[in-house]
Amino acid sequence: MRTPLVVANWKMNGTLAEARALTAGVRDGLKRPRGVDVVLCPPFTALGVVAELLAGSPMALGAQNCHWETAGAFTGEISPAMLVELGCTYVIVGHSERRRDLGETDEQINRKVRAVLALGMTPVLCVGETAEERRQGLTFTTVEGQLRAGLAGLDHRAIGSGVLAYEPVWAIGTGVNATPAQAAEVHGYLRGLLTELATKEVAQRVRILYGGSVKPDNAGALTAEPDIDGALVGGASLSAQGFVAIVKKVTHKGVTVLKGE
Ligand code: 13P
Repeated sequence: MRTPLVVANWKMNGTLAEARALTAGVRDGLKRPRGVDVVLCPPFTALGVVAELLAGSPMALGAQNCHWETAGAFTGEISPAMLVELGCTYVIVGHSERRRDLGETDEQINRKVRAVLALGMTPVLCVGETAEERRQGLTFTTVEGQLRAGLAGLDHRAIGSGVLAYEPVWAIGTGVNATPAQAAEVHGYLRGLLTELATKEVAQRVRILYGGSVKPDNAGALTAEPDIDGALVGGASLSAQGFVAIVKKVTHKGVTVLKGE
């Protein structure tokens, strides 16, 4: 059985004081998370202070991006090795905001996925269609292209070590989440592709998160779907109370994993 996973993507938010307060709030609200994995992904500048506050906690630290090289003349970039040094075990790769605003390509995303895996961290590979692509009936074609390109050249073991996130672009930051049925359809499709790219056993092991306007009041219904293994949370992860409530709403195979503590 896949352990559900909830990842907080703070995006470009959080002074050091805010990062400290938010991390402490989440840590205190989720004293003993059992049956669910929780990851906080602050901006690079706050990784150090969040790492200190998470020491001894079962919650993990993640980054929102990285370069694919270990070191070198890449002004402004952060390498996966630097993230390992700070205690990161997860890295979000291929977020739609980076694809859209910074022109990140599938090829670059594939190199990042490989670099993250090579250093023993877990990539959270994001895929998702725009509103226009959905309107044109291109949802499956889009996510399939992103998935195949993102995982290109990876062996079965590597594929089995990653996490996927389905984030429909039209649902990000809009307050309009995909319905559980809409998301479940795409998650099922992605798991089918994983079976084809690796094996059924590997595909059953990979966690596929849903992201896009996840809130305390929709997290339960979304993650009750058998192929939705957790959430990648943006805006709602900026409130400790809201994020804790989401984690407590996550269900797996219809069972709430973390009852109120
Ligand atoms: P929101 O939860 O703010 O819609 O953002 C989702 C997201 O992009 C997480 O990576």
